[in-house]
Amino acid sequence: MANVTIIGAQWGDEGKGKVVDWLASRADIVVRFQGGHNAGHTLVVGNQTYKLSLLPSGLVRGKLGLIGNGVVIDPVALLAEIDRIRAQGLSITPETLRIADNAPLILPVHAALDRAREAARGERRIGTTGRGIGPAYEDKVARRAIRVCDLAEPDTLDWRLDELLLHHNTLLAGLGAPTFEKATLLADLLALAPRILPYAEPIWERLAQARHENARILFEGAQAVMLDVDHGTYPFVTSSNTVAGQAAAGAGIGPDAVGRVLGIAKAYCTRVGSGPFPTELHDATGQLLGERGHEFGTVTGRPRRCGWFDAALVRQAVKVGGIQGLALTKLDVLDGLPALKIGVGYRINGVTSRHLPSGARAQAQAEPIFETIEGWTSSTRGARSYAELPAQAIKYVRRIEELVECPVTLLSTSPERDDTILMQDPFSD
Ligand code: IMP
Repeated sequence: MANVTIIGAQWGDEGKGKVVDWLASRADIVVRFQGGHNAGHTLVVGNQTYKLSLLPSGLVRGKLGLIGNGVVIDPVALLAEIDRIRAQGLSITPETLRIADNAPLILPVHAALDRAREAARGERRIGTTGRGIGPAYEDKVARRAIRVCDLAEPDTLDWRLDELLLHHNTLLAGLGAPTFEKATLLADLLALAPRILPYAEPIWERLAQARHENARILFEGAQAVMLDVDHGTYPFVTSSNTVAGQAAAGAGIGPDAVGRVLGIAKAYCTRVGSGPFPTELHDATGQLLGERGHEFGTVTGRPRRCGWFDAALVRQAVKVGGIQGLALTKLDVLDGLPALKIGVGYRINGVTSRHLPSGARAQAQAEPIFETIEGWTSSTRGARSYAELPAQAIKYVRRIEELVECPVTLLSTSPERDDTILMQDPFSD
């Protein structure tokens, strides 16, 4: 039986939560492998709405949730999220949630530095979530991170905090921001340790066992390919690799375990934060998409920028992300629009390109080349089969498949879990 990896194919917020939830109900284990509590997955189950940031979505379905080493974990945020979800009636215990003992921690210094740097950037700010994601990944690569396992060794924590603060306090002072006391940080970490350590273990070992038992594993990506630190619209990206290949390294399993790769894309396009967005709409249609699609960030509440579907961008995400099937969400938001545009390439200083170039200036100057396609008048909301879709909506989906060079294997027509059209089961071999 194949495993499945889900990643975003645009700039995040593609509606992964619903698709992950639906697939999680059929998986045995759900694994997060990158990102942190910058992610926001909204799951609507019956009359309950769960907003998850760090917890693997499968927990809502009573499945074992694993947080891999590729994730950066804010222990305070994790415990707060566990408490919040427990208050909604779900059981989250060290039996249902395991976290990698070699995952790096996000500490208050990281969020402070994230915000201080954003403030210093002014007009050129990235628009981060301000949660310390970038600085925590920097510390991991710089080999000065404090990891989950360090919570069990007070003496290790002590000297590692010295090294960490030498770096961060220098930077914070330079930026005119308050610095941190080692004694306070150490006391806080030691107080958190007994609440975090019961969840910690070598995740790679559990995954090796799960494979041995032929368990179905779902790897749950956060953010999206165009926010990937290598392949996205750098520097307006997050600080982790969001492509499917990261599922292996970020969980501690071989690349052959990644299984089928499903990319999620909205039937239009949105982005939060700064950075290039060639098909962005600054007019009434953009506003309409935002209102109909309830386009506000789950984590920050910021309004999302909206635009037409950019097939050139998604094609690029399909290629670099390893996407084998596309789940198209929020088709119903386009209902009733007389004409729809699809971005098929770019014009940059008079030269046409089929892909978004790597350079920051070239990306900012990229003007979309559009193809126009007739809209549909009847509703697609809640459709559960192709037969229920207007002919023009089917044409739109087929054209997207051609342009992005990837089949649409799943179509979501409302936030409700069952309002889904499945063309191909990703778990099937
Ligand atoms: P960071 O991940 O907080 O460093 O933010 C870097 C960029 O990624 C910003 O543009 C954020 O808005 C964006 N970002 C981070 N997480 C998400 C997400 O879950 N959905 C959409 N955008 C995100």
